[in-house]
Amino acid sequence: SAAEKGGWSSFMAKEVSEEPEAVANTLRGRIRDGAVAIPELDGLDDLFRGVQRIIVIAAGTAAYAGMVGKYALEQWARVPVDVELAHEFHYRDPVIGPDTLVVSISQSGETMDTLMAVKFARERGAKTLSICNTQGATIPRESDAIVYTHAGPEVAVASTKAFVAQITALYLLALHIGAVRGELSPTEVAHQLLELEAVPEKIQHILDHEQERIEQFAHWMADTRSVLFLGRHAGYPIALEGALKLKEISYIHAEGFAAGELKHGPIALIEPGQPVFVIVPSPREAPVLHSKVVSNIREIHARGARVIAIAEEGDAAVLPISDEVLRIPLADPLFGPILAVVPLHIFAMGLATAKGLDVDQPRNLAKSVTVE
Ligand code: G6P
Repeated sequence: SAAEKGGWSSFMAKEVSEEPEAVANTLRGRIRDGAVAIPELDGLDDLFRGVQRIIVIAAGTAAYAGMVGKYALEQWARVPVDVELAHEFHYRDPVIGPDTLVVSISQSGETMDTLMAVKFARERGAKTLSICNTQGATIPRESDAIVYTHAGPEVAVASTKAFVAQITALYLLALHIGAVRGELSPTEVAHQLLELEAVPEKIQHILDHEQERIEQFAHWMADTRSVLFLGRHAGYPIALEGALKLKEISYIHAEGFAAGELKHGPIALIEPGQPVFVIVPSPREAPVLHSKVVSNIREIHARGARVIAIAEEGDAAVLPISDEVLRIPLADPLFGPILAVVPLHIFAMGLATAKGLDVDQPRNLAKSVTVE
């Protein structure tokens, strides 16, 4: 009902507007004296010290959160991480055992593919940790440890605020494991936590300053038939998420690619007028990645692509080679992607709305897929 939507035109619009709170609430009470303090993880230090490998399992948007988390877990905790789609992981013969930590991610905590993969991992002797948004759901109940995301109930089928909350929880976990394993100094942890705590305000800034423009521009693009998304490093899963959202709610053909793959295939798709979103890393914090992405943009711009860059405020290098520049606030490389996804969520929603589609209930999809 309209009352439940709190004055918003859709649950999705409401939930995107709640992305800052979803991050803030997932952090609330979990940082003390510059360190991660999650009571649910008490008693797991030996596990975290001994773990040889982390496998993240999930489906859909949650799997893209997992891919973002991989960059943080490997960088901060120095544990090798694989991210696997739950249904693919389960039906082969994965090499796992007691020194494997399986981290499942699920908004609903009821996705059957993910649940079956968690049960299977436990049977094989792995330790299981659930990142879940729904208190008391089946997957957390079947897991050895739980870190809840506090995004609040998510009603729209396409996941938005849960996604940023999942990344937040993974970052807390990565910093915690990094600290326990002695890979990060207390100063480093404190610094990264300050960056994480600054995220809600930065997302709010994007909503306040870019939302209208992005919606307007999605409106102009209402008859677009195909959109490509490019990203590198932790921006790569964001490109995949941007494409998924567009498929889910706008029924437009959309593909996300690792920008470095361009020359290995996707560049053949570029013809004049082809819209391409590019997630541009920070020029200050990640100059090498930044210059690589800028040359990727040059390549597609030269072939007539319509480039929509998502770039840090003040990044002037993208201006001459982009048709549109959507600005995100300054952030460390691992935090940029949590910000870059916000314009993509707004864009998908704007385009579906412009096409007159029901953004909350896209055809053929269910919020929670409780069958295999
Ligand atoms: C369904 C939903 C997606 C969601 C996926 C995983 O496919 O339509 O939006 O990302 O399930 O759901 P979960 O509840 O496990 O995060």
